[in-house]
Amino acid sequence: MENVLAEELKELNAQEIKTTTRAVYFEGNKELLYKANLQLRTALNILVPIKTYYVRNEDELYKCVKKIDWSKYISNKDTFSIESVVHSKFFKHSKYVSLKTKDAIADQFRNKFNERPDVNIENPSLKINVHINQEKCTISLDSSGESLHKRGYRKSKNQAPLNEVLAAGIIKHSGWDGKTNFVDAMCGSGTILIEAAMIAANKAPGLIRDKFGFMNWKDFDSVLWQKIKKKSEEKIKDVEIDILGSDINSNTIKITEENLSNAELKDSVKFLTKQFSQSTPPEGSGTLIINPPYGERMKKNDINDFYKMIGDALKANYVGYDAWILTSNKEALKNLGLRPSKKLTLFNGPLEVKLHKYEMYKGSKKAKYT
Ligand SMILES: C[S@@+](CC[C@H](N)C(=O)[O-])C[C@H]1O[C@@H](n2cnc3c(N)ncnc32)[C@H](O)[C@@H]1O
Repeated sequence: MENVLAEELKELNAQEIKTTTRAVYFEGNKELLYKANLQLRTALNILVPIKTYYVRNEDELYKCVKKIDWSKYISNKDTFSIESVVHSKFFKHSKYVSLKTKDAIADQFRNKFNERPDVNIENPSLKINVHINQEKCTISLDSSGESLHKRGYRKSKNQAPLNEVLAAGIIKHSGWDGKTNFVDAMCGSGTILIEAAMIAANKAPGLIRDKFGFMNWKDFDSVLWQKIKKKSEEKIKDVEIDILGSDINSNTIKITEENLSNAELKDSVKFLTKQFSQSTPPEGSGTLIINPPYGERMKKNDINDFYKMIGDALKANYVGYDAWILTSNKEALKNLGLRPSKKLTLFNGPLEVKLHKYEMYKGSKKAKYT
């Protein structure tokens, strides 16, 4: 997802954009920090690095963390939490890194003020991120707080909802720009549909969320935040294309409906209960993205038949459409009877998944089928 995130940052006029594994660096001012939290669809957390040290053990880490003047960021009445990510032969346990960092901060306050801020995992005044790559340790403030995939529209969920950031990233990868028909005919709780509707409506994904980490910071500028939010709200437009969702399970359709109204996008999407083989897209061309069951709970023959059914339905009903399928079941994809024109590997949490594109051309069907 790093490349699509870098593209989004370019659109926000971020400077010095640099892509690395699982992260994209950029530079900007406070206004950009707020905008990034509000508008980026494919970022999970936006971290503000405050210090980098080179350390080889927990005691060195403790001393370095103690050198930072933490009273610049929190008072002894505030709360904090620490998240550590460690890839190092010198540090084995991220929990121990968090513990030593916490001790250093608590000891600094105790020495100075005889009182220390408490740890609060749920809703801290300051969320601190410690990232250790071999000896390089970067201490950052997490301006997002809770991960940005928590948009605020999902109150109840089905069994296997897709992460919102992954859903938005898949749509970005597909190149769909909100201007042509869009279908998810295995929509479950509607994550892909809702992310698509937000893109079509030009609605920032953070607009329905009421909390971001930076709001608890000492330097929070609420006037600036309100101004940015208002400007972003003014850019929302009516959805004029067809966005269609369906699923075989009527209960998940109810959840989709609920999530869509939480996202204030109910009128932008049509949805129905339908078996995929009977589903038909809006006339003309467009994009279909589905995330079918991976088949963990199905017998091998059944899952092969299931994917064959998907392929047959695509050939019969989706001519003119670009179809994208996300699944962890590489083997099952072979039963579609279609040749992909693009193949991407992504991660759904720790699970490796494939995103394949099938172009359902009119008149050139045979060339595309295996
Ligand atoms: C992995 S879930 C999709 C999750 C969805 N992307 C979300 O974020 O909630 C797969 C969905 O496919 C639906 N499904 C399974 N078989 C189907 C079929 N034959 N026709 C239509 N939908 C089907 C299931 O009901 C389930 O909601």
